[in-house]
Amino acid sequence: MKPHKPTTTCTAYHSLTSYSRQDMSGHYLDWENQPNVYKSYPDLSQILLPREVSLPEAKLSSLIHALPRTATPAAGICLEDLSLILLLTYSITARTHHGLHDFFYRNVASAGALYPTELYVAIRNVKSLDDGLYHFSISDHGLSMLRKGNLSGMLSGSPGESSEGFPSLAFFLTAIFFRSSWKYRDRAYRYHLLDTGHLLENLTLALKSLKYPYHCSFDFDDTHVNRFLGLDSEMEACLAVCTAPGPDLAEKSGNVVIPDLPESFKKRSRVAENEVRYPAVLEIHRSGEKVLTSGNSGTNMPCPQIKNTPGNRTEIAKKGTWPERYNYGEAILKRRSKRNFVKKEMDADHLIALADGLYPGIPEKSRDFARDHSSICTGFICGNVSGMDAGIYLIDPQSGNFGIVKEGLFLDEMAAVCLNQAWLSNAAVHFLFLANLSAIEETWGARGYRYAMAHAGRMGERLYLMATAMELGCCGIGAFYDQEAAECIGLDAETSLLYLVGVGPVKS
Ligand SMILES: Cc1cc2nc3c(=O)[nH]c(=O)nc-3n(C[C@H](O)[C@H](O)[C@H](O)COP(=O)(O)O)c2cc1C
Repeated sequence: MKPHKPTTTCTAYHSLTSYSRQDMSGHYLDWENQPNVYKSYPDLSQILLPREVSLPEAKLSSLIHALPRTATPAAGICLEDLSLILLLTYSITARTHHGLHDFFYRNVASAGALYPTELYVAIRNVKSLDDGLYHFSISDHGLSMLRKGNLSGMLSGSPGESSEGFPSLAFFLTAIFFRSSWKYRDRAYRYHLLDTGHLLENLTLALKSLKYPYHCSFDFDDTHVNRFLGLDSEMEACLAVCTAPGPDLAEKSGNVVIPDLPESFKKRSRVAENEVRYPAVLEIHRSGEKVLTSGNSGTNMPCPQIKNTPGNRTEIAKKGTWPERYNYGEAILKRRSKRNFVKKEMDADHLIALADGLYPGIPEKSRDFARDHSSICTGFICGNVSGMDAGIYLIDPQSGNFGIVKEGLFLDEMAAVCLNQAWLSNAAVHFLFLANLSAIEETWGARGYRYAMAHAGRMGERLYLMATAMELGCCGIGAFYDQEAAECIGLDAETSLLYLVGVGPVKS
């Protein structure tokens, strides 16, 4: 084992966990110690949620372009709505055989299909369901109650605070560290965050489709929330919170003493017999405990973070209709990673729709949305799109328009950079999510890593859904030789590639 170098900053962690062609020490997967991908509480009974719910029929483009709601639905929240939200967010959508066992894929993408993310929901005033905190079981589409009663005092950080105006639903997205570390070791924190973003995007679209106002946040008191959820924080930690409808939870902790949940609940964070702790994962996570509220809002983050600036930008038709084949409800259940790209020209209309969907100019109501949005910069390698020059482009986050920064053919080179995943060179476009990690560190400290990576994950999931709706293939790529990627794109020394997503026509 290499001596451990401290990874208390975004830049140090990202650099320590970089892949390099010269130094890919082999890591064998210990199949005997494979993490369980389903968390359960065997001592608790489960409330099974109704599965017979009608899927929303809205087009994905309309949903993405709809203005966020501000008013709580007058009818209140019923069990069927909650069931539908959870179904659209996190459900099993495919089965395959792994040896003698069945393996189930989910409607959300996840690095290596390791599914580190768990979902909890605190409920207040939902018809036919007692107030309390529940863990959501994806395998049963059911809820196990962990705490009973009105928990708004615990969530607000003030014991005497009235429950009026508190959210009806507060969703907590956690990561069980070992699920991804089992395969990716210290690099796994990247995937914990990207995967969180993928699931958060499904959740926010589900809430939007039911016309619920919502707030998402990566800022909260880590210790307070992990204790509230009854987690063993060495093994599992909350990474994102989303409340609906009602105010966000901010990062309050106040003077509230949160009663500990039973030790037996904490033990459920363990998912394998011999869990190995990867020090860099815990170190970067803990270094991000502090929320720097005084940091700038981020809207003037240095962006684009690339050596060249774009020349003329291609104007994109805002709010135009997209060439969609499937509506949102269909796309969310059909979404899959597709790698069978064919060397076929992609229509420019598709690319324009994808850029429009990533930057629709509709800000979320969430307190920190502008900050998260500006923490990353998006571009793409265009290889095979009708009427467009091959090269590397950057997208202007304000308008969604894009401009070329480097002309040439880069798909083959990038496929080689992505650990020689040769099929990627057949994709029409590689979307690139970039960030200036030094600037992020300076502005928000190590917590900024959570904002940038999770937001990149959100954008990645949105690409998957848009591609599915338009009958294109799509696959997220977290595995690349980091320095080679920076050289291929032409990034400046402070900027890194966080995530890449290939999109294009696939074999029908
Ligand atoms: C953060 C992230 C990184 C990924 N990296 C890769 C990758 O490097 N190579 C690859 O073939 N697939 C990659 N995938 C796709 C996953 O393998 C895929 O989502 C998972 O196997 C589940 O399959 P599904 O997307 O069809 O449901 C990645 C997905 C995510 C979310």
